[in-house]
Amino acid sequence: MRLSVFYGPEGVPAAGSPDCAVAIDVLRATTTIAAALGSGAEAVQVFSGVEELKTACEAWPEGKRITLGERGGDKIPGFALGNSPLELPPEILREKRVFMTTTNGTRSLERMRGTPCLLAASLVNLASLLSFLKEKAFESVWVVCSGWEGAYSLEDAFCAGAIAAGIEGALANDEAIAAAALYQQWKKEPLRLLLSSSHGQRLLKRGLLKDLAFCAQLNSLDVLPIQSEPGLFIREETRK
Ligand code: MLT
Repeated sequence: MRLSVFYGPEGVPAAGSPDCAVAIDVLRATTTIAAALGSGAEAVQVFSGVEELKTACEAWPEGKRITLGERGGDKIPGFALGNSPLELPPEILREKRVFMTTTNGTRSLERMRGTPCLLAASLVNLASLLSFLKEKAFESVWVVCSGWEGAYSLEDAFCAGAIAAGIEGALANDEAIAAAALYQQWKKEPLRLLLSSSHGQRLLKRGLLKDLAFCAQLNSLDVLPIQSEPGLFIREETRK
């Protein structure tokens, strides 16, 4: 397998495409997508813009839809839910379609939407992701970190490193090798790494320590979000 890590969607080459892409936004979008599907949401549909989201949402049956979104870490006014993976109770989400937009995470998913197999990963579903990648044995996999508004983010690079470290024998690019070294350095203290990161600090200032603790729990969810049609994510095992 050829494994390439990109530290932001802006760094993804304009030409070419892998067999499989993995988008990462540990804090918090891809963690929240896994948690929403884990709480029984029928699907999560992602949008980079609010207006486009509202149009699609209004076309979906009332009672079967819910909005979720943030800008800069804060809930979007008028939306039902913010981007906290802790505030997704099954009683509210069961069988609903979640219409979601976030500052960075939904942008990287959108950037990779043309890939034949697109997955959303974070620390909570690493084991599910790795077993899927091993089983499928793709020839080329691109791991795309979301970063923060075009900048590198430590927690996404750490997660990319966990993926790189978990795939034996891959032909890895320099970014993947560096990310794997970061993972080896911090793997016993994921929460401390998240707390040290700039977005972790931003969330901490908003009193969201519990969100960080949830996002730092490696392999706590057996849920792998996979794109079933452009922009739409469902649980991998329900795709067949
Ligand atoms: C994002 O997409 O930028 C993040 O998920 C922001 C957040 O922590 O809500």
